[in-house]
Amino acid sequence: MTLPPFKLERYFAKYEFNTDFLLCSSDCEAMSIADLLALESGAAEKFQSTWLGYTESQGSPSLRKEICNLYTSIQPENVLVHTGAEEAIYLFMHAMLKENDHVIVHAPHYQSLSEVAKEVGCDVNFWLAREENNWALDIQELRRLLRPDTRAVIINTPHNPTGYLMQKSDFVELNRMAVENDFLLFCDEVYRESEFDMTDRLPAACDMSDNAISLGVTSKTYGLAGLRIGWIATRNKDVYRLMASLKDYTTICNSAPSEFLAEVALRNRQKLIDRNLGIIKHNLTVVDDLFTRYSSLFTWIRPRAGSMGFPKLLKGDIEDFCDDLVRKAGVLLLPGTMYDDLGNHFRLGLGRKNLPQAVERLERYLKTK
Ligand SMILES: Cc1ncc(COP(=O)(O)O)c(C=O)c1O
Repeated sequence: MTLPPFKLERYFAKYEFNTDFLLCSSDCEAMSIADLLALESGAAEKFQSTWLGYTESQGSPSLRKEICNLYTSIQPENVLVHTGAEEAIYLFMHAMLKENDHVIVHAPHYQSLSEVAKEVGCDVNFWLAREENNWALDIQELRRLLRPDTRAVIINTPHNPTGYLMQKSDFVELNRMAVENDFLLFCDEVYRESEFDMTDRLPAACDMSDNAISLGVTSKTYGLAGLRIGWIATRNKDVYRLMASLKDYTTICNSAPSEFLAEVALRNRQKLIDRNLGIIKHNLTVVDDLFTRYSSLFTWIRPRAGSMGFPKLLKGDIEDFCDDLVRKAGVLLLPGTMYDDLGNHFRLGLGRKNLPQAVERLERYLKTK
């Protein structure tokens, strides 16, 4: 079996670098290398002397040490650094899953979270987030989906594209079920630390049991997608060993300049979080206003975390709407069909500074209709 096209990425490829306003980005506003280095005195000079040889395959010891600060029980030897979160997803599934394994995946979802498992030949079932349930996952439903041969459950919270954040009690129960039923819990936490109310933040799955793998990245909450630095954190030695071994066939090691910059970013991550949450919260007021004025055209479940929401278009077909909008107004929204969603939803990005101007352009377009 071969991997089919990644629908969302192919859609972005058509428009990302030639459209005035990306109103559906999943990442937060980025910054320049100079601005990042300015967060820490002496960093710019040190960056100049970064050695451009091969780096340690697991990730530099100092970066892994910094990543440990995101967790409570994780040591550097539990962190494996990758080229983006995407490489880690690919390697996890190829290292830990085999043909006919039963795998349960949170849906709708970032396509690779199920597609790579399917490519491996797994039997994939979806654990559906339902709009009528505020996009929440239902633990009872997972109980019905579980089989004695379930090898892995894949979830994403905070969630792309709905902004759903799992309730703590459900998260604890899910982690308990992973141990009791002996499945691997692959928890895509790339939007962690972007909770609108910090007290809602979940513990990281990797701190809850040896069955869990937490996925992190610099791209989303911290707004540094161009670094292409992601990681997994897990106390599970088999997972670590097998993923590390497979990495020799993909990237071998990470970019040395990116590792240096990621370390600076994570050491200063609270500043990045504050900046990006400030942008998101301001943008939410703009979007709330728009949706109040256009309540006959849009509804949404307001997100609780992350840099996205998944509103519903109440009139017309979402693909036609997005196509016409991008062509006539230069504003990109992402049709939910890119996630195989048939509910006429679209992804709305909340993390970019120019959202108010993009919404203005969108509204001008709506007035012509
Ligand atoms: C849920 C989720 N996981 C993983 C990724 C991949 O992250 P990266 O592009 O930084 O590798 C994304 C990117 O959009 C995502 O939304």
